[in-house]
Amino acid sequence: MMARIVGGRKSHYLRWPWMISLRRYEGKAFKHKCGATLLNQLWAITAAHCVDGKMPNEVVLRLGEYNFHRMDESHPHVERRIYMIVIHPQFDAVTYENDLALLRFYEPVSLRANIVPICLPKPLDDVAGRMAVVTGWGRLAEEGELPGSLHEVSMPILTNKECEEMYSAAGYVETIRDVFVCAGLLNGGLDACEGDSGGPMVVRGTRGQWKLVGLISWGMGCAAPKQPGVYTRITKFVDWIDDIISL
Ligand code: ARG
Repeated sequence: MMARIVGGRKSHYLRWPWMISLRRYEGKAFKHKCGATLLNQLWAITAAHCVDGKMPNEVVLRLGEYNFHRMDESHPHVERRIYMIVIHPQFDAVTYENDLALLRFYEPVSLRANIVPICLPKPLDDVAGRMAVVTGWGRLAEEGELPGSLHEVSMPILTNKECEEMYSAAGYVETIRDVFVCAGLLNGGLDACEGDSGGPMVVRGTRGQWKLVGLISWGMGCAAPKQPGVYTRITKFVDWIDDIISL
């Protein structure tokens, strides 16, 4: 089977309009490094490990993008420079606990077909057992190629206990604290991969709206059996996020 994001497929244009490409200056150009997600006209969210140690002027966000190599999309992308990076004060660069950061633009974006913010969940939403969608421009397989267009994959959200049990069956002793949420299959095959970090894991709400429940944080390899992807659990941070983005 042809692997995508890993195990997913190319997204439809305009389907995930909160998806952002986070680009860092490297060599002589800004290059895609991570995913990020639009929260409102001035703020985006990403993984702390994507921006840790970076100055705001080393990062550019590309909104409304779909295929990096095409200039003829019906709704052009927009870029925003960063005015302020707010890394979660308890981010731990060793364990990746509290792996989230908020990015404030210099100039607000106006919303349109390809630029729409995501909803936040309620702090008590329990998502175990639900199907999640994960999107990104990351590798299509471990050590695999980088796609030009946005990819998506759906997979079930696990309980933290199921996640720990899978890792321990694979020979890893991992304590998956409640600041994380895992997703994937026992036999692997569906996952995020390098270059997807910081991007969204979303679930569909009862009224059809999509909600941000995770940020792609870490994994061991990509899509390996008994090694589910591990995500920052957004429900744990909704109050912190709201306090900052309502400033
Ligand atoms: N940390 C990696 C990145 O910077 C991706 C982590 C997700 N990996 C996974 N197997 N789910 O892009």
